[in-house]
Amino acid sequence: MQNAGMEALGLSWRYLAFEVQPEKLREALEEAKEMKLIGVNLTVPHKLLAVEMMDALDESAQTWGAVNTVRFEAKDAKGAWRPLREITGMPQEVRAHGFNTDAEAITRALHEDLQLDVRGAKILLLGAGGAGRTAALKLAADGAGELFLVNRTQGKAEAVAGEIRERWPTVRVTVGYPSGTVELVLNATSLGLKADDPLPCDGERFSLRKAGAVYDMVYRPAETPLLAEAKKAGCRVANGITMLLYQGARALELWSGRKAPVGVMRAALLKSVYG
Ligand code: ATR
Repeated sequence: MQNAGMEALGLSWRYLAFEVQPEKLREALEEAKEMKLIGVNLTVPHKLLAVEMMDALDESAQTWGAVNTVRFEAKDAKGAWRPLREITGMPQEVRAHGFNTDAEAITRALHEDLQLDVRGAKILLLGAGGAGRTAALKLAADGAGELFLVNRTQGKAEAVAGEIRERWPTVRVTVGYPSGTVELVLNATSLGLKADDPLPCDGERFSLRKAGAVYDMVYRPAETPLLAEAKKAGCRVANGITMLLYQGARALELWSGRKAPVGVMRAALLKSVYG
């Protein structure tokens, strides 16, 4: 999707995948600066580690405590930091500027795919790992009415609940399943990626018939067992492909300074993921 987006914008850039061991991340980022890369995306487990390695942090990365997009920058003739694409000649010093485009993509996807307005909504969130924590904080920041947090390791859900109570005291947050109905069930666990995974939502504790909509961050397979169950229960459903699209589209905007060609990127993404 990035290569298709770059091509549509007429940029002679290439997006490549590199596998980097976590203990080599700092070195890899320094080398990226040396090589004058325009930017990088980071995925698990680098998003949290990278926070400490940035020379500057955008408010988005500070707010969510994770970096998924880095833009490399150098000083222009007036001494102001500018994205490398704007610099002519060989820059002296390059800095890494960290952003987070994941959180915004969550609300954008919920709105577009499920017509869901987070404000005031009751939401059951499954998972309190990296993705689950960012989702929980973003939903709280967007004014969710009540959050129910469920995670296999309960201590992690409790830690996220504590962070929300401190930062957004008006949002009600409970660790555990709700007894009544919710507008949304959001799966942020990795369950559903493998065919023999159990459902992330315990049917004995919560019936999907009590949910208006179900969003699964897992997007492969397109219909996860959770989404199949949710459909049967009459819920509106969507998988995580739109989230993936929007975090990438925003990253391309940060690197290029141009509006992302979302239609082209979506088509390329769907083709590469679903064939
Ligand atoms: P990510 O950054 O994608 O969220 P992660 O931080 O490793 O990755 O989080 C994975 C999530 O899936 C966690 O909520 C994890 O639960 P734990 O915190 O208890 O590890 C959840 N998860 C993974 N495998 C699971 C399983 N077999 N059963 C239940 N939850 C599982």
